[in-house]
Amino acid sequence: MCGIVGYIGYRDAYPIVIKGLHRLEYRGYDSAGVALIDKDIKVYKKAGKVSDLEEFAKGVNLHGTIGMGHTRWATHGAPSDRNSHPHSSGDRRLTIIHNGIIENYAVIKETLLAKGHIFLSDTDTEVLIHLVEDIQKETGLDLREAVRVALNKVVGAYAIVIMSSDDPDQLIAARKGSPLVIGVGEGEYFIASDATPIVEYTKNVIYLNDNEIAYIRRNDLLIKNIDNTVQTPYIHELDLKLEMLEKGGYDHFMLKEIYEQPRSIRDCMRGRIYPKIGKVQLGGIKEYTEKLKNVDRIIIVACGTSWHAGLVGEYLIEEYARVPVEVEYASEFRYRNPIITEKDLVIAISQSGETADTMAAIELAKEKGATIFGVCNVVGASIPRITHAGVYTHAGPEIGVASTKAFTAQVTVLTLIAFYIAQQRGTITQSKLIELLTELNEIPELVEKALGSNEHVQQIAEKFKDSRNCLFLGRGSSFPVALEGALKLKEISYIHAEGYPAAEMKHGPIALIDEEMPVVFIATKHSSYEKVISNIQEVKARKGKVIAIVTEGDTDVKAMADYVVEIPQTDEAFVPLLATIPLQLISYHIAVMRGCNVDQPRNLAKSVTVE
Ligand code: G6P
Repeated sequence: MCGIVGYIGYRDAYPIVIKGLHRLEYRGYDSAGVALIDKDIKVYKKAGKVSDLEEFAKGVNLHGTIGMGHTRWATHGAPSDRNSHPHSSGDRRLTIIHNGIIENYAVIKETLLAKGHIFLSDTDTEVLIHLVEDIQKETGLDLREAVRVALNKVVGAYAIVIMSSDDPDQLIAARKGSPLVIGVGEGEYFIASDATPIVEYTKNVIYLNDNEIAYIRRNDLLIKNIDNTVQTPYIHELDLKLEMLEKGGYDHFMLKEIYEQPRSIRDCMRGRIYPKIGKVQLGGIKEYTEKLKNVDRIIIVACGTSWHAGLVGEYLIEEYARVPVEVEYASEFRYRNPIITEKDLVIAISQSGETADTMAAIELAKEKGATIFGVCNVVGASIPRITHAGVYTHAGPEIGVASTKAFTAQVTVLTLIAFYIAQQRGTITQSKLIELLTELNEIPELVEKALGSNEHVQQIAEKFKDSRNCLFLGRGSSFPVALEGALKLKEISYIHAEGYPAAEMKHGPIALIDEEMPVVFIATKHSSYEKVISNIQEVKARKGKVIAIVTEGDTDVKAMADYVVEIPQTDEAFVPLLATIPLQLISYHIAVMRGCNVDQPRNLAKSVTVE
């Protein structure tokens, strides 16, 4: 939530900051702003997208070799010019950008109001910069120390960057709970919420840890802990290419990412499966083989699409590894008093590796002694750094807010984890594993084939683009696929959609069915095929419009459904990887036809770093 960028060096800061904000716009896009130092601090900010800010700032003085910018996802205070970041101190000397939430801002604000501070916004962020100003005024501390003292007084999560007109050769950055990366150049430093604004200037980055403050000058970087001890930073080398961050000829990032899936699934399996000998190798968790042999229970925690992937994982792990699995919304899990023991394995799934609730769930399970694995996409993000072990999904940067390739990569990793545990526990025969891995190895080609239905799906989308509601139904591991299909449609086309287990339809949703209601069935030829056919008949008997995702060559469902989309034949274990594809495409086309902003749907953000 919210993207922040900072630059200090010898180049003009504004173009670097603006380009960086465009890259981070997936984190929030309701308002944006920049601050530059050219003798004194200049702040330009505006409600709307980063492009609105650019338009607004045309023709003004945008010089300065130190600057910072912010793209916002509103928490405290509606999206508006005055609530946009940066925010300044009362005397205008200090300016801040912030990602996160200062939970005790109301109490601090009250004290500051009593001392005569005047606030120009409704944000918690402005309170923090006034607090720093107040501490300096009361104690005479220098800025570095005043920021440290202020951060010790606040409760909540933050990634901040502060600049001061008193010291135009310094940026101060700090993090607790919200990500911050520092790019290390020669005579210049970059700061950003993730590495994407940095990669074209330097591959050397430092991931700031929680409770660290970085004091950055053009030729000097000092990192201290919030208790004032000096830290020795580790410089990582980025494995990120610029073209991964561009649309590459597609109209939208979402479409590009849908089409990348044959590649991303293959990358995710590379070096991890050996079909000929029936072996799965997962280097990231191999130290925990003994633990896996004896594990009593697995708890999967995640949010959003990642939670849906977790549900697919539950089917696969229970089926093949025979370990009981519970799948929990991280936000619910963390606020219950869950029963977790040292024998449990917790698998946290997160594309961004930064989701606040998932991080809190991990901390809770860790305190109770559980072993924690992470399944993340963004290398070097916070979750992979707080888990004991993990498996990266290697899908590459996902920029469309609606998750597509990250979902199929998560499902692929969970499939591998299920087979890996099964292999360690001896719950799968070698010959079965050879058979399954041989088929899994073919999945990228089958996904490619499934993408071949694009034009047909587009024609179906045309028929349903004006629907007000839609139901998605499936059984077994196709139930989470139905949930994911419904989520995609809601997210990007604003059509109300529900995912349900097909059999549960009779306990409520059937009441919604009339001739206006599209019902999408995942009806492939596997264990529940006959049952799903009965459910289709129930919908048809009530005049609902049926769109069915079927196995190639199917004739029975074809005879009943209004529209069918074929996917290639595969083992039941891999149906989620194929059935998801037409559902992603249908949502995409409907959203485009409705004129929606596919990559940046309203009110959403890709990385939810507030609870
Ligand atoms: C947001 C995103 C979703 C994502 C969810 C969990 O809601 O818009 O696409 O599934 O967060 O994010 P994570 O990064 O933890 O997978």
